[in-house]
This record gives sequence, structure tokens and C-alpha cells, in this order.
Amino acid sequence: MHFPEIHILELETVDSTNLYAKDNFDVLDDCTLVSAEAQTAGKGRLGRQWFSPPGTNIYVSLVMKRISNPFYATIVSSLAVLEMLERELPRAPFYIKWPNDVYVDHRKISGILCECSTRGSSIEGVIAGIGVNINLDKKELDSIGQPAASLKFLSGVHYDVKKLSRELADSLEKYYAVYLRYPEVLFDEWKGRNYIIGRNISLSDPTGNIRNLFIRDIAETGELIAEENGVPCRFHCGDVTILKESLPGTPD
Ligand code: BTN
Repeated sequence: MHFPEIHILELETVDSTNLYAKDNFDVLDDCTLVSAEAQTAGKGRLGRQWFSPPGTNIYVSLVMKRISNPFYATIVSSLAVLEMLERELPRAPFYIKWPNDVYVDHRKISGILCECSTRGSSIEGVIAGIGVNINLDKKELDSIGQPAASLKFLSGVHYDVKKLSRELADSLEKYYAVYLRYPEVLFDEWKGRNYIIGRNISLSDPTGNIRNLFIRDIAETGELIAEENGVPCRFHCGDVTILKESLPGTPD
């Protein structure tokens, strides 16, 4: 098996790096990282927008032609984001918020949007779109409409976005290779960074109902294996709120 080698395609302004990667999927090599300085129509999950001002944050999309399950593209991406963030701020309590965000202290610092590229009814690969807030200041973060953080907000220091993008690229290349060889190892590492197994959480389900759940486990499909008032149930999507005392960095 040959391991993926990252190629970085640097663009100035695009509508969305995910759209660019999707439109050019056939001509882009496996493991190409489309990176932009700004996005005019950055896409978030569930039809939301992703705040993408110029030169301030990381906006990238990784073309993964050897993955057909978007859940595994999410795992590769979130572990790579954590590695990059923890290299900068090793003591900050970053964690993965199921299913695909990276948080610190109840604030979102990174969002991941994985989309399949299809031909007819077959999946040709996955595009993993990753946004990481790097130099947004408090005023900009407050304008986002949900609790958000950036590296600068956490440390007070201004960061070199290009340098961090290259570091993220290296981590993506590494975790993509681990996925190809040892997907179960990657899954275990990802599961361990979710901090919800054995905890009580609340989940806003796809119909908007709030469910209070005890989390027993996470299945290899990514589904939450839970109990609601003692009754077993499973969820594959929804917005999770983790109780403050369950989070890393706070005593149990
Ligand atoms: C979310 O949390 O809602 C997912 C946000 C994903 C944002 C990134 S930024 C780079 C890539 N291009 C997009 O248009 N979206 C993703």
C-alpha cells in the first residue's frame, strides 16, 4: 500500500473550498488540500454559514479518494485539528464534541463538514471541509451567534495562519495514513476524545426535541448508544450539550 502524500492548493478567495473541491474532484489528486485565504460562501452543517473573513482563519478541504464513509473522514479531520491545536496550546482543554466539532471550554473553535462526491449512485470519495478559528478577536467571535473561540482568544497571541495550515496538512496526511492501515486504532483514539461515554448529556434531536441521555458507548458507525430513562436508544445525529462537570480540565 502506498501512503497518501499531501499536496496543498493555495487559493485566494473562493465561494467555498468544499464547493471548489467538489467541482474539481476528478482532476484533483487524492490527498489534495484546497486552502483559501477567504470564503465568500463558507458552508456550515445543516445549511448554516461559516464565518470566513480574509487571512484570519484556516479554511481547507481535503480530497479523500480512498474513503467512502464520511464518518471516517470526520475522524481523520478532527484528530488532525486536535493535534495542530495542542501543538500550539498543549495545556488548553480541547475536546471533540460529537459528531464533528472541536471545542474548548464550551466554545466551538473548529467545525468539520464532510461531503461525498458521487457519480450516479456510487461514492467516489469524500471531501472533508475544515474551518479553524485562529485570529478572530472577541468582537468577531461574539458576532457568530453561538459560543466560539479562536487560538488568539485563548492565548492573546497573533498566529501565522499559513504556518498553522501547513501543520494541519501534515497532521491530516498522518491521520489519513493511519486510517488506511489501522482504522480501528483511529476510531478508538477518536472515541476517547469525546468525553461522553458514561456521562449524562442533553441532545437536541433532528426534530428539535431535547433528550436527556446517558451515553453507554459510541458504535463503529458513529452512532451514540444511549439510554433515555433506562430505555436503550441510538442516535446518528443531533446537537449535543455536555454537562460542564463532564468536560476535560474540570474536576469530576
Ligand atoms: C460546521 O461546524 O457547521 C462545519 C463548518 C465547516 C467549515 C469549513 S471552512 C472550509 C470548508 N469550506 C466550507 O464551505 N465549509 C468548510
